[in-house]
Amino acid sequence: MNSKKVLVTGGSGFIGSHTAVELINKGYEVIIADDLSNSRQEVIEAIYKITGVRPAFEHIDLCDREKTKALFKKYNPESVIHFAAKKMVGESVENPLDYYRTNLVSLMNVIDFAIEKDCKNFVFSSSCTVYGQPDVLPVSENSPRKEAESPYGNTKKISEDILSDVVKTGALKVISLRYFNPVGAHDSALIGEYPLGVPGNLMPILTQSAIGKRGAFYVFGNDYNTPDGSCIRDYIHVVDVAVAHVAALDRLFQKEQIASMEFFNLGTGVGVSVLEMIHCFEKVNKLKLNYSVAPRRPGDVEKVWADTSFANRVLGWKAEKILSKWLQVHGPGSKIWQVK
Ligand code: WQD
Repeated sequence: MNSKKVLVTGGSGFIGSHTAVELINKGYEVIIADDLSNSRQEVIEAIYKITGVRPAFEHIDLCDREKTKALFKKYNPESVIHFAAKKMVGESVENPLDYYRTNLVSLMNVIDFAIEKDCKNFVFSSSCTVYGQPDVLPVSENSPRKEAESPYGNTKKISEDILSDVVKTGALKVISLRYFNPVGAHDSALIGEYPLGVPGNLMPILTQSAIGKRGAFYVFGNDYNTPDGSCIRDYIHVVDVAVAHVAALDRLFQKEQIASMEFFNLGTGVGVSVLEMIHCFEKVNKLKLNYSVAPRRPGDVEKVWADTSFANRVLGWKAEKILSKWLQVHGPGSKIWQVK
């Protein structure tokens, strides 16, 4: 069993909290640092209920250099999984400076003090948005990173470049995990995707509309060059994403040195459209969702899904919960972009 200490920044958030559960289950000692700008401290208790272990929690703004320094001094972690960042594509188009400041300053503070404390193992939360609109699908880690379609995607590209240059100095070993679209919740339903305020992502908007917490929602565009006109994404279950983080951290601890920064796609390898996701949700839950079609959302790419063979081979990780298998059985005439 590991007894290694890992600082999970943004760890009370959607992916961070699910990853904290998997880390604890693998014997890691988890410290959660979060500014609670898009999550709730109650999540810590939920993690305790699920695992029987209450992770240390620090309410902190990682853009505050002195507080970040004190955090590393207090806990002396041996590794970091850095989730803390703003992550909504649409919101970043409206507030670019807020995204650049928050996502980049916090990252550089965390890097600085990880280096200072010789905390060499660093997993970075990246995103398929670094690929922009790929020319070739499925998109692999060797696919060119294209012009980001949003300031959010650009902060992820810049963050990867910062980390890559730091790795060249030998100061850190870094694995960057490029998520596609994480959705779902832990089986206990004690943790899930429950952002503060108005969600920006499809699934929390859809689920909150379904339970009457908010009214009708929009499908942003049905005039894309896709079979049903709506955008295609690779929706991956959040627990699969969480398990991949543990595999990445295990790899960093096992490898004395990794010559350069490693990148892995975390997806299922299958693209599903917005309308398919809606129809799937309606069929599973035997209900009709209240939505209408609106114009395209600035910053959206038309279609993207992952080639996951590198993560399958090198991390020994594969997504287990594949929506398309469900859609092929239950979907209403679903056209699946099964890429293999
Ligand atoms: C998905 C699709 C929208 C809301 C996300 C994360 C980002 C990154 C990539 C991890 C799009 C459509 C949405 C709505 C809609 N993941 N939509 N109506 O933009 O792909 O980015 O995955 O890092 O962090 O934000 O996700 O859920 O916002 O949109 O029609 O009310 O759903 O147009 O086609 P996106 P999303």
